[in-house]
Amino acid sequence: MCGIVGYIGDENARDIIIDGLKRLEYRGYDSAGIALCTENGLVVRKRQGRIQNLENMIAGEDLYANLGIGHTRWATHGAPSDRNAHPHCDRSGRIAVVHNGIIENFMELKEWLQKEYGIEFQSDTDTEVIAQLIGVFYSGDLEEAVFRAVEKLQGSYGLGIICSEEPDKLIAVRRDSPLIVGLGEGCNFIASDIPAILRHVRKIYLIENNETVILTKNDVKIYNAQRQEVHREVFHVTWDADAAEKEGYDHFMLKEIHEQPKGILDTIRRRMDADGKIVLDGIRMTKAEIENFNKVYIVACGTAYHAGLIGKTVIEKLAGISVEVDIASEFRYREPFVDDRTLFIAISQSGETLDTLAALREAKRKGARVLSVVNVVGSSVARESDDVFYTWAGPEIAVASTKAYTTQLVCMYLIGLYMGREKGTLPQDVYDRYIEELLAVPEKIEKVLRQEKQIENLAKKFYRRDNIFFIGRGMDSAVSYEGSLKLKEISYINSFAIAAGELKHGTIALIEEGTLVIALATQDRLLEKMISNIQEVRARGADVLAIAKENRTAVEQQADDVIYIPECMDEITPLISVVPLQIFAYYIAKQRGCDIDKPKNLAKSVTVE
Ligand code: F6R
Repeated sequence: MCGIVGYIGDENARDIIIDGLKRLEYRGYDSAGIALCTENGLVVRKRQGRIQNLENMIAGEDLYANLGIGHTRWATHGAPSDRNAHPHCDRSGRIAVVHNGIIENFMELKEWLQKEYGIEFQSDTDTEVIAQLIGVFYSGDLEEAVFRAVEKLQGSYGLGIICSEEPDKLIAVRRDSPLIVGLGEGCNFIASDIPAILRHVRKIYLIENNETVILTKNDVKIYNAQRQEVHREVFHVTWDADAAEKEGYDHFMLKEIHEQPKGILDTIRRRMDADGKIVLDGIRMTKAEIENFNKVYIVACGTAYHAGLIGKTVIEKLAGISVEVDIASEFRYREPFVDDRTLFIAISQSGETLDTLAALREAKRKGARVLSVVNVVGSSVARESDDVFYTWAGPEIAVASTKAYTTQLVCMYLIGLYMGREKGTLPQDVYDRYIEELLAVPEKIEKVLRQEKQIENLAKKFYRRDNIFFIGRGMDSAVSYEGSLKLKEISYINSFAIAAGELKHGTIALIEEGTLVIALATQDRLLEKMISNIQEVRARGADVLAIAKENRTAVEQQADDVIYIPECMDEITPLISVVPLQIFAYYIAKQRGCDIDKPKNLAKSVTVE
């Protein structure tokens, strides 16, 4: 969840690291810090709050160094504060460490260090244990001390380590937390994620689990856990740094909402030939293999899980196979029925979500074939899967996921269509109709985006509400979960989503005068039932904002306000109906003065359990 960055070269590390941290701020932003290896030894500066606070702190200081590390934090052990901010140092003040992850045995190690070495800890963090461990093992050879310390650690870590005694060396270690190395001319970098260093380099090493990297300004060596040097292919980043900039939008979230038509089209085009035939090149899915599966398991977290809920309906319908969907943190402790006839689909934007990764490993251990739907190329989920279906959303920076979600949905349709066609159970005309509808989605989303002003006005009308419910039936119920999550995570309004037919079994007790109910009514075959549900909540005093397809006048007659989406097949609506909900959440949060791209308590990449 935190972001780490490090630099070694001939430039001033301070500016490069501060810039890198700003680009990693989406990973955590409750405190930030920097350690520089200056002529006068190690200088460490850290501050609670945003990176701006750290920048203000060092603004007047003449700090120069060719080696340094930095950190932006999402607190796990120890409250956000100056003292708990990273980097952490050993007691001699010569060694500094930044860490992304969690050290599970830190209490045990802390007690040992206190008892054996009389170390007095300066923070409440698990990370300080690493710095102190390296410190007690250090006798002039940083590499050796790091290897010895890492042997004692349990848990997850992406580490950046420097020592004032060895100013020509930067060390990085990875286990279950993302870590990349950037290869420059006469300089090298480490970071948790590519955007942090894309201004400087395009050649990257993707570091694997249990690897240690020794960087000097002209050289990078990677070692495995047995301390053998390993060879790594260079990964060339093809996308542009500008893709991770706001380009005139007030927030990344709004920019990313607007990028959905392109992301969707790119995701479809990468997997479709000129004749509209889906091609899953590089993904092993022969007819015989598909026929061998007797079950599909989709596992993910948060928004990606909501994409899985739609995936269940779509794949069951198109491929004629039973699909289970589970939340990753539940799946792994459930002892699920998974075996070598299971197709396990992991969905993850970041590809670094620890719960999803752990579920994937559990499924693999039980023999399942793992296909992942991932946005970040080379991420952990992608690397540990048998096959990867990349979403082509481009970098998603806002914490609230939007374009990753809709491109994940596209993958669900493409997987379902491909499996159904290969099995020979999906009639050609049905297949063709879906392809036609999918290809028309980007233009239909553009049409919704043109209603942005109207949706903003609705947000102005409703932004003071304390409770907002989302209801829907069939596929609309899955979309309502996503709409509600979007709203609560960025506006902090208490929001609840429920299948509309389930309301009367308890939750309707909460509906009263002034409650806002957002009713998704896009499923023609369930429209009458949905209209009854709208009437039920209105009878109890709720205001109703409906989402409906054009010309459904019956909805207009019952709801207080309606946002229309263009005509399309019921089965395709989730790709479109979520867009007004994203825009609505965005403008509600804006009206309430919230920090939209960096909501409180959240982080973009959740690499803790
Ligand atoms: C919400 C959101 C989260 C993520 C979830 C999984 O807007 O972004 O709910 O969807 O943390 O993250 P990934 O997809 O990276 O595995």
